[in-house]
Amino acid sequence: MAGFNLKGERIELVLLEREHLNKRVEFLNDPEVQKTLNFDYPTSIAKTEAWFSKNILNSNRVDFAFVLSATLDIIGFGGFININYRAKKAELYIFIGEKACWGQGFGRDGYKLLVNYAFGELGLDRIYLYQLAENSRAIKATESLGWFTEGLLRNDIWSHGELKDQYLLSFLRSEWVNSDFYKTV
Ligand SMILES: CC(C)(COP(=O)(O)OP(=O)(O)OC[C@H]1O[C@@H](n2cnc3c(N)ncnc32)[C@H](O)[C@@H]1OP(=O)(O)O)[C@@H](O)C(=O)NCCC(=O)NCCS
Repeated sequence: MAGFNLKGERIELVLLEREHLNKRVEFLNDPEVQKTLNFDYPTSIAKTEAWFSKNILNSNRVDFAFVLSATLDIIGFGGFININYRAKKAELYIFIGEKACWGQGFGRDGYKLLVNYAFGELGLDRIYLYQLAENSRAIKATESLGWFTEGLLRNDIWSHGELKDQYLLSFLRSEWVNSDFYKTV
């Protein structure tokens, strides 16, 4: 597959701007959204603005808002951290914070747009992510998108009061090139 598109039929990727930060904080402070994430919790507008300012020119990460194509309402956020241009790899993160949108394929569209961007625009070879072993929604989404589970990391992460297991998953450029799933979003 050549090229990529930041716009899907239902959602689009918009590079993170200061005007998106209030929504980001609202989503991240929602206990149900936060439950399967490992972000600073709780967080504040002030901290998030400081984080945003500090990272504007950071080439090791890229952050997007997911907006509905029809209304431009923000429904979530995602991006890549630890971008390593030498090893051509990066770690993906994603959260759909608008819970009314869960379970309707928006998450899957979000993964696809991010992956298309990483391979099509950044020219990476490997994308990986960590996923709590209890995060059945995310597991179903990545399974249906052909991600490979590299292993279960036992007691790997302290999350909201307990040590938890998490999976390490990856998706390679060669798998993306040969995948029909990613061609339509
Ligand atoms: C994980 C997340 C991105 C998935 O997005 P989503 O829009 O809810 O998921 P999708 O609708 O694209 O599809 C996920 C799959 O899970 C299924 N699903 C929906 N609700 C579910 C539930 N409660 N339990 C298990 N599976 C569920 C969907 O039916 C779909 O499977 P299918 O292809 O067999 O129909 C989103 O739920 C989210 O942001 N959660 C909170 C933060 C988070 O966990 N981020 C990921 C960290 S790795």
